[in-house]
Amino acid sequence: MTTQTLDTTALHRRFVLTPWSAQASVTMPTIERAEGSYLYDADGKRYLDLSAGLVAVNLGHAHPHVAQAIAEQAARLTYASPQFFNATRARLAQRLSSHAPWEEGCRAFFTTGGGEANEDAVKMARAITGRHKVLAAYRSFHGSAPGAGSLTGENRRWANEPGMPGVVHFFAPNPYRSPFHTDDPRVETARAIEHLELVLTYENPQAVAAILIEPVVGTNGAIVYPDGYLRALRELCTKHGIVLVFDEVMCGFGRTGAAFASVKFDVTPDMITFAKAVTSAYVPLGGVLVRESLARYFDEHALQCGHTFSGHPLAMAAAAAALDVYEREGLFARANEIEGWIREGLAEVAARSAYVGDARGVGAFWAVELVKDRTTKEPIAAWQGSNAGPLPKLLADLRARGVYAFGRYNIILVTPPLTIARDELIEGLRALGDALEAFSCN
Ligand SMILES: Cc1ncc(COP(=O)(O)O)c(C=O)c1O
Repeated sequence: MTTQTLDTTALHRRFVLTPWSAQASVTMPTIERAEGSYLYDADGKRYLDLSAGLVAVNLGHAHPHVAQAIAEQAARLTYASPQFFNATRARLAQRLSSHAPWEEGCRAFFTTGGGEANEDAVKMARAITGRHKVLAAYRSFHGSAPGAGSLTGENRRWANEPGMPGVVHFFAPNPYRSPFHTDDPRVETARAIEHLELVLTYENPQAVAAILIEPVVGTNGAIVYPDGYLRALRELCTKHGIVLVFDEVMCGFGRTGAAFASVKFDVTPDMITFAKAVTSAYVPLGGVLVRESLARYFDEHALQCGHTFSGHPLAMAAAAAALDVYEREGLFARANEIEGWIREGLAEVAARSAYVGDARGVGAFWAVELVKDRTTKEPIAAWQGSNAGPLPKLLADLRARGVYAFGRYNIILVTPPLTIARDELIEGLRALGDALEAFSCN
């Protein structure tokens, strides 16, 4: 280790709080630069970014077109309060509308990140419907701050409790660990909808403003819902006048093989929340897309949402340039090609390690779920509190082998940049297989 690395490590330990971690346990490399599919640390060691950061760096690192647009914007206008009109912002919103699933179009409200976008979507749905309850799924992540954290359906919610009133959780399908006791996807869908109808009955559907759901579950394990589930959810929302919000913070911008998962699955929500890859994560940006017919409500009623950084010029320029690249390089659809490479690579990984209980996903949005035993499906770590189990050790070994991946408890996300070359992906998955072969969860 160089002196510089040691200095940075010491400074971090002394002055920085790292997210979601017991601070004394954090040992990570010091990243100095990144390009394409690779990160480089202060010692010059290279890491293939198998998770696109936190499933966000869809254009690979440091794409020159986006970097240049940020620099040019910084030289021209770095800030104007969000009430001012701005051409870059207006054109970006127009372009987002053209990629969104609504024929009627949509309007964008910009935030700084995904959690904030979910909170604002809930606020808008409550205003529009005059109702207060919000339903969200277990095994979901919708953000960390108290509002979005209350919507989250797993242990990252617990620290927020009692949290935001009016949030009710329900079970959504999970084919590998069915909450509905079936291996049949059609039965899974039917029972999941029956369960949700019951939840609505007992909560009073006329009190429910919104149902918020990740159309593909993200950090809880790249769970793709069985056919028909999202469509049935749409029908249920329409029947009861409930606003359907798709949280596309992770699955938007090409991750599933289309601009949005709602386009990919041909199911139209009423709002879409986004963040992360809208700028390829180069500048913080999130937002809510509201279908035109609902957005009109705010023509005569004040929108009660606002942030200092809403529609920040640097973020607008970064997103506009990122869209240029997505469109020019055909990246929204490229995940459809990557899907085959990942499927094949993960089948090899699963053949090498019995710890792989399931490898699943869609497009360039995959996860491996690690179990102690394929028959009992006992996870290698319990999903509880601060004991992360053996996964950090496995991920550290993977980094030693030159690959960064993001994971939690017994899930590793395989969500590379959409620009990744096939050889790079093979290199990453081979290292994952090597690390799993050397891994023992005892
Ligand atoms: C599906 C989903 N929603 C919301 C969020 C929160 O976004 P942010 O961290 O930008 O607040 C995340 C973050 O990982 C996410 O995956």
